[in-house]
Amino acid sequence: MSLLPILRFPDPRLKKVAAPIERIDDRIRRLARDMAETMYEAPGIGLAATQVDVHQRLIVIDASETRDQLLTLINPEILSQDGLQICEEGCLSVPGIYDKVGRAEHVVVRYTDLEGAAQTVDAVGLLAVCLQHEIDHLQGHVFVEHLSQLKQVRIRNKLAKQARITA
Ligand code: NI
Repeated sequence: MSLLPILRFPDPRLKKVAAPIERIDDRIRRLARDMAETMYEAPGIGLAATQVDVHQRLIVIDASETRDQLLTLINPEILSQDGLQICEEGCLSVPGIYDKVGRAEHVVVRYTDLEGAAQTVDAVGLLAVCLQHEIDHLQGHVFVEHLSQLKQVRIRNKLAKQARITA
């Protein structure tokens, strides 16, 4: 297993749209393991393959307090959504930035698991937020795009400054 480098906003590679996974082979299984390790180490509650510069539809999530409820979702699709919740979000690709985003309160997501079986997850609350946030990444979207233009400019400036300091 190994830790994977995480792309940082506004890296243009975060805008790539991920392709469906056609075959679950050793490469995909290794990627899923490495992404889970990277997420737990960060620590974060979700990570999309897009964030580690692999543009295929794979996400890992663990929104549990006990950190032992790993979900690995291949080709996730939102089947239905309803309600509204406003939650403060952060992102491993946008370090140090947290802001409120409106999302559906309830989602039903269809996906394929690592064994190739079709599954659905019916989620509310934090898990529902996390699923929407990670599926957004696969479409090339980062949560800050839900914020005002002014906030987005501030965030870009702040991250550019951090990058200069650490470079
Ligand atoms: Ni994120």
